[in-house]
Amino acid sequence: MTLTLHTSSEHATERLGTRLAALLRVGDVVALSGDLGAGKTHFVKGVAAGLGVPEPVTSPTFNILLVHMGRLPLYHFDLYRLEHAEQLEDIDFWGTLESDGVSFIEWGDRFPEALPQDRMEIVIHREDVDTRRLEINPSGPRSSQLAVDWVAACGGPEVSA
Ligand SMILES: Nc1ncnc2c1ncn2[C@@H]1O[C@H](COP(=O)(O)OP(=O)(O)OP(=O)(O)O)[C@@H](O)[C@H]1O
Ligand SMILES: [Mg+2]
Repeated sequence: MTLTLHTSSEHATERLGTRLAALLRVGDVVALSGDLGAGKTHFVKGVAAGLGVPEPVTSPTFNILLVHMGRLPLYHFDLYRLEHAEQLEDIDFWGTLESDGVSFIEWGDRFPEALPQDRMEIVIHREDVDTRRLEINPSGPRSSQLAVDWVAACGGPEVSA
């Protein structure tokens, strides 16, 4: 199943993240991919706002993982600078995903074999300067429910098999 959402500003992309935040449960995993500057971090900024994170969210590119406390803990990963999947063990990647919060993983497509089976993958395509297309691919029962509920909350589905 692939679902699609479109945005025409960075704020609109953030709002999609804020709507998703309302539906998140402990253990949810979202992998974000798309080119440099696609809008992955802006999407997570919106998620953080929706979770009630008080501080500004910045890119974790140099830290690999930044943690924010909101309604649920938000684990914000960026795997861009990781060279080997083995380095994921050093940051307790799997332990963190299975702990007490929700995980958003920028450049999650770099190590697809490292991701849990049931996760929502979002690929952000840059269509023009301000327009983006989000392709949403859930891969299990929980992420499928989350994706369907989220897209419905954003104004209705545009689903392709
Ligand atoms: N519709 C849109 N949605 C999101 N960002 C947009 C949109 N239109 C323009 N932008 C701009 O695109 C850029 C997105 O930057 P952002 O840091 O979120 O990308 P990223 O995918 O996290 O990049 P990186 O791979 O470097 O981590 C910002 O400069 C933002 O203003
Ligand atoms: Mg980023």
